Amino acid sequence: MRMRNKYRKPTNLHCHAGTRCSFSVVVWSLVGCLVMLHLYSLVQHKHGRGGEIQVHMSHHPLLRELEEVEEENIQIPPPKGKRSPRAAKRRPRPKRTATIMDEFLDESSQLRHVFFPDWKTAIDPVKDSGNESFYYFPGRIWLDTDGNPIQAHGGGILYDERSMTYYWYGEYKDGLTYHAHKKGAARVSIRTRIDDPDCLSRSDGFWLQPECYTCTASVCCTNCSPAKHEVDIIGVGCYSSKDLWTWKNEGIVLAAEETDKTHDLHKSNVLERPKVIYNEKTGKYVMWMHIDDANYTKASVGVAVSDSPTGPFNYLYRKRPHGFDSRDMTIFKDDDGVAYLIYSTEDNSELHIGPLDQDYLNVTRVMRRILVGQHREAPALFKYQGTYYMITSGCSGWAPNQALAHAAESILGLWETMGNPCIGGNKIFRHTTFFSQSTFVLPLPSLPGSFIFMADRWNPVDLRDSRYVWLPLTVRGAADRPLDYNFGFPLWSRVSIYWHKKWRLPYRWSVKK
Ligand SMILES: *[C@@H]1O[C@H](CO)[C@@H](O)[C@H](O)[C@H]1NC(C)=O
Ligand SMILES: *[C@@H]1O[C@H](CO)[C@@H](O)[C@H](O)[C@H]1NC(C)=O
Repeated sequence: MRMRNKYRKPTNLHCHAGTRCSFSVVVWSLVGCLVMLHLYSLVQHKHGRGGEIQVHMSHHPLLRELEEVEEENIQIPPPKGKRSPRAAKRRPRPKRTATIMDEFLDESSQLRHVFFPDWKTAIDPVKDSGNESFYYFPGRIWLDTDGNPIQAHGGGILYDERSMTYYWYGEYKDGLTYHAHKKGAARVSIRTRIDDPDCLSRSDGFWLQPECYTCTASVCCTNCSPAKHEVDIIGVGCYSSKDLWTWKNEGIVLAAEETDKTHDLHKSNVLERPKVIYNEKTGKYVMWMHIDDANYTKASVGVAVSDSPTGPFNYLYRKRPHGFDSRDMTIFKDDDGVAYLIYSTEDNSELHIGPLDQDYLNVTRVMRRILVGQHREAPALFKYQGTYYMITSGCSGWAPNQALAHAAESILGLWETMGNPCIGGNKIFRHTTFFSQSTFVLPLPSLPGSFIFMADRWNPVDLRDSRYVWLPLTVRGAADRPLDYNFGFPLWSRVSIYWHKKWRLPYRWSVKK
């Protein structure tokens, strides 16, 4: 009742008795004006800071260049023979966008080189000098300083302040890809799903999950045959760099177990998305990763620890965090030294987030459910000017899908979804995260508001040949879809990932001010 009265008070403003309540009208108007002014100044303050930075940053022609929208025009070659009998039968004729996806998924496509450029175009920091130096070419083979393709899939980067070196950790996949069915199961099962009219009519995903662990009503997963694609666990690869372009192979820092079949890291199991953070209190480097068995029923996180960024890491244990299944995951270390685990759970239908303990070796009892019912995975979290941001992918196995950006004022939530951050390329590029899946967002402290978006372009038939898609990510300007309004002022800045066929960081970007 008291609540009701409180909320009824303002209705006094609807004054029917004329001048009698003009005094209260004036008072309330003044209060309203003051509140609005206060809010306005707050928002101006926030935007002002952003604006200053933007002005300052836009001095840099290279940065401006990175925020230019670059279109991509892919010509579909004429159909050749009976490349896809299923597709030919399909009626009405497939949309152009579906066709490009078909080409992407078709190993023998004439457009293969567009998505998976061959060795001749490899980025070779040892040989490439002169005008190609320091350029990223998303999707091209990227060689380490030994001349071998970098093996750090589903990875993340640690900046080690002590050695002033970047360390890139990821899945080392330089082995044969297995197929449950001998005849290219990847292609077969993915096509089954695209062609299935039931699946097409659903809005929550298009492709059969190769891992087949989310056969729930809301994810289209009929005809779920065990069409898995995986390589034996080889281990976690580590590469070091000072410039984020020239990477030296530091070897496998957490290796598979060859003989003991009961070990979590036995080569027949699954190890995905390793991430490393440094603990100031213990002086240890702590690695968290997704640990699973071959049919993805273990759904756990694993923890390993090392005295050195280049290992060897000592594997400690696995667990189901907070008692829940955990698949795609990441960890995030906040400015105050508190680290968090974020993982896809409840059959990938939602994410959970919770702080780690002081040693970063365990979760605590605190946990929040976020993005409930949204079926997001591959989380990549970052922070800018006190606001937390996250990029996630949808759940469609190895096939690419649309990224979403999310934002929160507090890391434990409430998290709000802002929409697709991808800019440029073409429509299908933007709807497939440039044919890749998020894995990490790397802050560039010397370029406030600028980040590197790191993603994997998975090659399901040959996983070791999966490519890296690195692109500039910025947090600037107003969000397209500001869900949370504060008296009409959008709370969030826009997260933008810009497509570029080639791009580089500004010269001397690493010099901190
Ligand atoms: C680099 O220089 C070579 C030789 O001058 C030229 O052919 C090539 O187009 C240049 N590449 C770029 C990206 O400017
Ligand atoms: C992790 O913490 C939980 C309580 O939150 C505790 O029960 C468990 O034993 C801890 N595990 C390890 C390995 O320390």
